[in-house]
Amino acid sequence: MDKLIIEGGKPLKGTINISGAKNAALPIMAASLLTDDTCVINNVPALRDVDTMVKILRALETKVDRKKGNTVVIKGPCGKTRAIYNLVSTMRASVCVLGPLVAKKHVAEVSFPGGCIIGPRPIDLHLKGLEGLGVEIKIKSGYIIAKARKLKGAKIYLGGHFGSSVLATANTMMAATLAEGVTIIENAACEPEIVDLANFLISMGAKIAGHSTPTIRIKGVRRLHGTNYNIIPDRVEAGTYMLAGAITGGEVFLKNAKPAHFLAVIDKLRECGVKITEFKDGVKVKGLVASSIKPATVTTLPYPGFPTDMQAQMMSALCLADGISVITEKIYPERFIHVSELGRMGAHIFLEGPNAIIRGVKALSGADVMASDLRASAGLVLAGLVAKGKTQIHRIYHLDRGYEKLDNKLSNLGAKIWREKE
Ligand code: EPZ
Repeated sequence: MDKLIIEGGKPLKGTINISGAKNAALPIMAASLLTDDTCVINNVPALRDVDTMVKILRALETKVDRKKGNTVVIKGPCGKTRAIYNLVSTMRASVCVLGPLVAKKHVAEVSFPGGCIIGPRPIDLHLKGLEGLGVEIKIKSGYIIAKARKLKGAKIYLGGHFGSSVLATANTMMAATLAEGVTIIENAACEPEIVDLANFLISMGAKIAGHSTPTIRIKGVRRLHGTNYNIIPDRVEAGTYMLAGAITGGEVFLKNAKPAHFLAVIDKLRECGVKITEFKDGVKVKGLVASSIKPATVTTLPYPGFPTDMQAQMMSALCLADGISVITEKIYPERFIHVSELGRMGAHIFLEGPNAIIRGVKALSGADVMASDLRASAGLVLAGLVAKGKTQIHRIYHLDRGYEKLDNKLSNLGAKIWREKE
């Protein structure tokens, strides 16, 4: 396994190209199971999670071709309907094949999904959505076994204890495209990745309205056809590099970033004193010297609130703020594994339930830290970029799941960062 080594203290300067959104690409690739025609998907980031989805689709006997320039070509029909534990257990988004398989093939057997260690991640809402469409679900030996002779449109309320669910909305919406009649999903997720998935499905001939609102209306069609589609830019990648520019006192242009997709992050950073300018083709951030970052109160919420996927990165920045900040995690109350690692670097963070109370320090110091989940790892990279001395981030497997060429991109901005074998 590789480790990342960072010598902190270099202000980042230059332009960075924001890649396609991982969390849009994965369900969209799964959605191609809904047709036997060819789907050409462009701007798919080269990530380990995308490799996993390719393996899952190939294991279902779908033809998948990866072309140069981040294009993936998927051609059905899929011959198999069982997605096995070895693949599905490594990535939560694998569960996205469930809805398309049962809608298209009337049967699906999908292992319970895995993913980052960020606390309990139930799938009751996925099952509720599909059952609402008339799918019969059984759980056997760690597999979700879904069967339906015919899917029927219905009114389905998809709110859970923590609000809407992104991938449960995705699964239900995908399945409903081929159901008989009209489906209305209430308390649907409004994340840009759901809107992108809806637009992909519409480009295949699906009839969907209301995506980007909590009420999505889907009129089922008999068949969907192939398409050629471009994935939206990754708002979490953009937000992560925006913070990297901000806390290193740099000046970075995030090319292709869509400010409308991460306004809550932009707004919070402005509150902290960071200068951010929005352009048609991207976003520019002008950073601050660490101790002039103002403290903030941050609560993670479903979109358009502050994204949980930016919580760890924001925490690294607030470790250096001039005062006390509070972060409340309302999506995954246990998503705080980075806290102890930031402590090794000199951060003062006190945890009380879903709240992290952060007392800003003048500087962080480089240390050996362990990457635990994807965004926690990104938070540690940010801390390393601004810390005094050398930071070694071990087990960076998770970073490669979600950030395309992270070390190259940061090196191009002037960071001293490199990879070594452990
Ligand atoms: C998506 O996961 C993202 N993953 C996650 O990003 C992201 O953190 C999360 O949405 C929240 O924004 C992908 O898109 C591949 P949820 P998802 O269902 O859909 C509860 C990253 O780092 N819930 O919206 O699995 C759940 O426990 C990853 O890129 C239920 O109660 O998340 C949580 O509290 C990590 N029952 C809340 O809903 C369910 O059936 C929101 O989770 C499903 C979810």
